[in-house]
Amino acid sequence: MKKVDVLLGLQWGDEGKGKIVDVLTPSYDLIARFQGGPNAGHTLEFEGEKYILRSIPSGIFQGDKLNVIGNGVVLDPILFAEEARALSRSGHDLRKRLLISRKAHLILPTHRYIDAAQEAHKGSAKIGTTGKGIGPTYTDKIGRTGLRVGDIEHQLEERYQAAKERHLALLRAWDYPVEGLEELEQQWMEGIRYLQEFTFVDSEHFVNESLHRGQSVLAEGAQGSLLDIDFGSYPFVTSSSTISAGCCTGLGVAPRHIGEVYGIFKAYCTRVGAGPFPTELFDETGERLCSLGHEFGSVTGRRRRCGWLDLVALRYTVMLNGATRLIMMKSDVLDSFDTIRVCTDYEIKGELTRSFPYELSDEVKPHYTELKGWKCDTTQLTRYEDFPQELRDYITFIEEQIGVPIAVVSVGPDRAQTIALHPELLP
Ligand code: GDP
Ligand code: IMO
Ligand code: MG
Repeated sequence: MKKVDVLLGLQWGDEGKGKIVDVLTPSYDLIARFQGGPNAGHTLEFEGEKYILRSIPSGIFQGDKLNVIGNGVVLDPILFAEEARALSRSGHDLRKRLLISRKAHLILPTHRYIDAAQEAHKGSAKIGTTGKGIGPTYTDKIGRTGLRVGDIEHQLEERYQAAKERHLALLRAWDYPVEGLEELEQQWMEGIRYLQEFTFVDSEHFVNESLHRGQSVLAEGAQGSLLDIDFGSYPFVTSSSTISAGCCTGLGVAPRHIGEVYGIFKAYCTRVGAGPFPTELFDETGERLCSLGHEFGSVTGRRRRCGWLDLVALRYTVMLNGATRLIMMKSDVLDSFDTIRVCTDYEIKGELTRSFPYELSDEVKPHYTELKGWKCDTTQLTRYEDFPQELRDYITFIEEQIGVPIAVVSVGPDRAQTIALHPELLP
């Protein structure tokens, strides 16, 4: 029986997961999303085209590979229809290659209003959510009042009305105005009809049977480990398990059937939305990272906060995920820097520590090591042998600090700008 390999983000999301899933897809038979929803925005670029995927796995562009939306995902019929139709228009018909779990939960129009109302009530303590109703949908799931894709085949209308009434009562109690609901509901019902053109499966059976038949599966994470509901910078997190353990519950795969865990990180750090970020830069250097890295959210267009690479956080997320291989993204963004700083320790109340603390309070100060920049264009490189020495030193420094090999370095957004340092560590 084959194992499921997992690919996920080790920072605060937007590490470049979509790009690498697409690059690795030829080596797999099945690509599966296991958590998150349309809060994700996974960008792929190839042959001069750019695509942004939100709920659909990033294996959809490679030949006849099967893609699965797993039970751990929350699905918005409106946004799904929008995304799938756009792909169809550009010649990518998904119906035969995309399977949807009956146990995935549905995002209702009223979940979006609750998301907005909760944010409004938080005042200055806002999370800065994507506004897609993610938290409220997972709340209903855990509260055992959610609607699932499988309900489309069983008394959907009745269940929908009951959930809607419950949500509206909440919104009334919060005195939150609900405008435009009817129109959204029409789009939602239309989205439900469109969804019915796809194949619903009991994806836990499907994935396990595929593994038994010797097929290989790559699980695609969304968000990042520092946004994980348990281990992220709570409460400034998303509402799902974004770490490798989430793959077990989000697909119905037993822990002993997890194989390699590919952990992706940017050569620096970004974060979108509120919450602590010890290495954040508020100066010209931060601006430079943002403009050179085009750090604007692929879903919301929001400016991403930027800072230096944080190895304390990275060690922590490598531990949580059991990452077996690292993939470093966007090192090209650092091409023009004279010096590059890397946070190796935190200083808390005058003491240096490598242990990720309970809370990233203002008392946590990053302690940096400075490395020399390579000062040359790396975006056209194709072989490790041609890497400038300073970039090699940067890679070695991180590998030594973390204790896990960097198997791949990405030097640009295009599929082709991907360099395998250790091909033997790849599928
Ligand atoms: P994801 O959510 O993890 O899939 O990442 P996003 O797609 O939200 O954000 C990554 C952004 O960086 C996208 O705009 C990618 O096109 C871009 N990108 C990915 N890899 C690289 C790289 O190596 N260099 C540069 N300059 N851009 C990259
Ligand atoms: P991908 O998959 C970056 C952030 C939001 C907010 C917090 C909670 O593209 O890496 P939510 O809407 O999930 O309740 O918002 O999480 N967030 C992301 N940040 N990349 C993402 O996805 C994100 N998905 C959610 O900005 O701070
Ligand atoms: Mg993204």
